[in-house]
Amino acid sequence: MTPVHGQLIYQGKAKRIFQTAKDDHVLVEFKNDATAFNAVKHEEFDGKGRINCEISAYLFEILEAEGVPTHYLFQADDCWMTAQRVDIIPLEVVVRNIAAGSICKQTPIKYGKSLSLPLLDFYFKDDALGDPLLTDARISELGIINTKQRLDIETLALRVNSLLKTFFNKLDLILVDFKLEFGTNKNGQLLVADEISPDTCRIWDQRVADQKDRILDKDRFREDLGGVLNGYVQILKRIQGVSSKPRTCS
Ligand code: TMP
Repeated sequence: MTPVHGQLIYQGKAKRIFQTAKDDHVLVEFKNDATAFNAVKHEEFDGKGRINCEISAYLFEILEAEGVPTHYLFQADDCWMTAQRVDIIPLEVVVRNIAAGSICKQTPIKYGKSLSLPLLDFYFKDDALGDPLLTDARISELGIINTKQRLDIETLALRVNSLLKTFFNKLDLILVDFKLEFGTNKNGQLLVADEISPDTCRIWDQRVADQKDRILDKDRFREDLGGVLNGYVQILKRIQGVSSKPRTCS
């Protein structure tokens, strides 16, 4: 069911954000659309929105329980999440534990290599520019965030990595890498925002040896491996096996 909502604030590739009766709350709708390579590739997967919404809600609650501030308030309906309204910082913060994806295209690091330390990269969130990789100097020049905010973001992102890596490991899942977005709420507090789902993470199944079959995330779509939703469902089922349902009101 669609919860009562106000005007559309933002239309993303996989989500829409709506106003609510409360000025500082928004409703996030998780769509069934999947895109890759800056939307060059697009397909709809019936049920993806519901699965990603629920996985995101579970993961935000895990982070919140460990003191990581997030925009998440509660799961309002199957595909809907109520969240704090934030000003999104136009950065994609990627943390990698194992080499996959763009790092293997841009460097000689081999696919599947365990990185000596979690590797954190900032990308500029701008579809027209293709979300380019940033350097520290470019971040300073752009003036998107100051040094303190950058340190705070790095600390939070690495803490999220450590918490989620441990959590997924207990489920026989490997957190290969993931992307976070951050925003500031009306009090200026820095929060993990957006979503954390198989659309924005790479997750491999430790119970499967085959390099392709073990992929449970959006790489199944990016690489035309088939069984996209099956991978997502596998992740959801394992989380459900150890967690109580996400809350549905604040
Ligand atoms: P990458 O290897 O393509 O740079 O992706 C790193 C991680 O970030 C991977 O888990 C997928 C995620 N990601 C997004 O969530 N959105 C994006 O637009 C891109 C490019 C990657």
